[in-house]
Amino acid sequence: ALKHSYITKARKHNLRSYGYVQPQASYKVAILGAAGGIGQPLALLIKMSPLVSELNLYDIANVKGVAADLSHCNTPSKVSEFTGTSELADSLKGVNVVVIPAGVPRKPGMTRDDLFNINANIVKTLVEAVADNCPDAFIHIISNPVNSTVPIAAEVLKQKGVYDPKKLFGVTTLDVVRANTFVAQMKNLKLIDVDVPVVGGHAGITILPLLTKTKPSVTFTDEEVQELTVRIQNAGTEVVEAKAGAGSATLSMAYAAARFVESSLRALDGDSDVYECCYVQSDLNDLPFFASRVKLGKNGVEALISSDLQGLTEYEQKALEALKPELKASIEKGLSFLQKQP
Ligand code: NAI
Repeated sequence: ALKHSYITKARKHNLRSYGYVQPQASYKVAILGAAGGIGQPLALLIKMSPLVSELNLYDIANVKGVAADLSHCNTPSKVSEFTGTSELADSLKGVNVVVIPAGVPRKPGMTRDDLFNINANIVKTLVEAVADNCPDAFIHIISNPVNSTVPIAAEVLKQKGVYDPKKLFGVTTLDVVRANTFVAQMKNLKLIDVDVPVVGGHAGITILPLLTKTKPSVTFTDEEVQELTVRIQNAGTEVVEAKAGAGSATLSMAYAAARFVESSLRALDGDSDVYECCYVQSDLNDLPFFASRVKLGKNGVEALISSDLQGLTEYEQKALEALKPELKASIEKGLSFLQKQP
């Protein structure tokens, strides 16, 4: 049975005070795309982690200054900078967790799928280097469209003979973070207590918050369920429109990605009470990749949590059936991408 304690534990980790950080473990983390809108604040948050001893920042440009800047923070990890493809391999040596926010973000009017052509190639190149240099690492894919870039990464790893489905993750934590925030606001709950599982994928209607599975237990009217579901599904677009051409969510995304990194590091460090929603290879239904709550352990995904998907309301069941064809198409688009390569 799921314990509630992990939820508050995860929050407390994210809410640590900004004083002296006492080293607690010595993991090595690499960020690929570290000079970008997500990469920079994500690097800062990871620099705050007591579980990290080395932080490698890789980008094709502008990463030297980011690393110099961050390296002045008096927290335990050592920051190193790697610029351009000739330094990519070195940035990955001995790394335990690789986070990939490299690629272009959306502009108003774009869907995540519109980013496919550019980001698919970026993810392919970067994951090839991960396969060659740190095949054992947990791989966190942020680059959109996540519904397709994760299957691409899986195919690359398979071609390289190093695919471990337990260690490849599409980062959907932001959907959970948003759901928690919006539900807490609507229901006047203490934010630290709220946990909403979000399943499916990470684009439009494939994002399915299971509001009736919210902890602590809350009741919603049908109108509230509809309003919250649509807001969570469109929250990314809310930010894209507010930024009006200057990009998509970066700060909330960095916060969410840092939480997922911290959870992964705690799992690697032997904590047996770590659960996160993420987009992974799955056998919970007929889709080969599916976001659900998973239990994380030293070797990655230890178990897929199926209980959230039991006893769905009619609304949730319909939404689940409705998202399947779209998610399936995005997965197939990702899987077939490598076959179309020259
Ligand atoms: P950005 O344009 O600010 O930064 C992207 C960075 O990637 C830049 O520094 C760029 O130099 C770098 N880059 C480009 N090609 C590269 C390569 N081949 N190797 C290494 N680095 C490379 O974009 P932003 O806002 O940071 O977004 C990054 C990605 O994250 C986008 O694809 C966006 O759609 C996605 N995203 C995902 C979310 C999620 O929930 N999973 C939420 C928000 C954004």
